[in-house]
Amino acid sequence: MVDVLLGLQWGDEGKGKIVDYFAPQYDIIARFQGGPNAGHTLYVNDKKVVLHQIPSGIFHENTLNLIGNGVVLDPVIFKKECDKVAEFGVDFRKNLYISERTHLILPTHRALDKASEIAKGNDKIGSTLKGIGPAYMDKTGRNGLRVGDMLDKSFTTQYIRLRLKHEKLLTSLNFHEDITAWEEEWFEAIEFLKTFKIVNGEYFINEKLKEGKSVLAEGAQGSMLDVDFGTFPFVTSSNTISAGVCTGLGVAPQKIRDVIGVTKAYCTRVGSGPFPTELHDETGEELRRIGSEFGATTGRPRRCGWIDLVALNFACMVNGVTKLVMTKADVLDPFDELKVCTAYKINDKLVKAVPFQMTRMAIEPEYKSFKGWKTDITALQSAAALPVVMKDYVTFINDYLGVKVAWISNGPGRDQLIEIQ
Ligand code: GDP
Ligand code: IMO
Ligand code: MG
Repeated sequence: MVDVLLGLQWGDEGKGKIVDYFAPQYDIIARFQGGPNAGHTLYVNDKKVVLHQIPSGIFHENTLNLIGNGVVLDPVIFKKECDKVAEFGVDFRKNLYISERTHLILPTHRALDKASEIAKGNDKIGSTLKGIGPAYMDKTGRNGLRVGDMLDKSFTTQYIRLRLKHEKLLTSLNFHEDITAWEEEWFEAIEFLKTFKIVNGEYFINEKLKEGKSVLAEGAQGSMLDVDFGTFPFVTSSNTISAGVCTGLGVAPQKIRDVIGVTKAYCTRVGSGPFPTELHDETGEELRRIGSEFGATTGRPRRCGWIDLVALNFACMVNGVTKLVMTKADVLDPFDELKVCTAYKINDKLVKAVPFQMTRMAIEPEYKSFKGWKTDITALQSAAALPVVMKDYVTFINDYLGVKVAWISNGPGRDQLIEIQ
């Protein structure tokens, strides 16, 4: 069976830490979408590490890790990640498998990402500039190169053909940047990538499932960044929701058991696009400061606000969430008052559904207030020890969503996770 762990907001919910925590319970951790736009932070032996494309199970000796076909892979960033992982004494080749169907991010994809953002001007997506959009466009446009293609004799010819296509596009966007250095680095990284276990991912995973092995599919980004169900066009270019697991790994829907949704106790977003509960005041600043809300991939300050139950409820619906993990609850420790968005006021009407096009309308969040717990929870280890006032906050969220918060994360550390019975 396959369990899924994914983000329910706009990314950075703390997925990396939670996957690392659950990893020993699974035989395989598999990434099914996204690419180096992701930044998953883990603490290993109290040392921070940020993973972008390698699954967050890599630090566990007995866990296999698969980069699935739904991922777009940048070999250069991958090589750097492997070097980082090696610093922890991990033999990264031993437990890491890559699907031959995984699409490659080319240097010109990165250039196209940048050119497209410049062309959009004020309407830019706020992309991570990792080439994600252009790489997925080449996948659906049936032009892209895949990991398995590296082993083909005509690979360089195929590469040049695609680069020429990209160069025409770049010229039409009036974008001129010398990519020679990127390209050299890229081909070096391709040689490095060839030394890995490149597999037919769908047979690999289904055979393991047949043997009774367990899989945790690790989502990247968040549900509100899903290309179909997110705040389009301010989204990423993949299906971040649970349905993406089937297409991104080649597993059938009936193999999926639990869908574990991760949400912060508040809400953040990095990049452009609608964010109804965003706070532009001191409280927003406080959330950013206390939560150290700066992008793990780009270092950009994250926009901060209160938890949005309208969006969360929508995310639970499209994902079929069966269990919730609430992260960064400790960030709310010092606040006197907490707010929870229960509805959107649009044209004087209260709605509890996420509208089709959030950018075209003024949305005023309707809040319910809660008393803050004003207790340092970072050292607590059991549900019974949690402040009573905090239980009110969590119970309200459970009831609204109809799904239970089953774990509360009270700090970035590996051991800072409390199971709620
Ligand atoms: P991901 O992309 O979902 O894996 O999340 P990121 O790594 O981008 O961002 C989450 C940040 O919050 C990281 O810096 C984590 O170390 C940190 N973090 C995770 N869980 C907690 C928590 O419960 N409390 C606090 N204070 N920090 C946390
Ligand atoms: P993790 O896995 C937060 C955002 C970007 C931008 C939009 C499109 O760490 O949660 P892209 O580069 O995908 O074309 O950017 O999506 N974005 C993320 N925001 N966490 C992420 O990943 C993100 N990956 C992309 O900021 O708004
Ligand atoms: Mg992140």
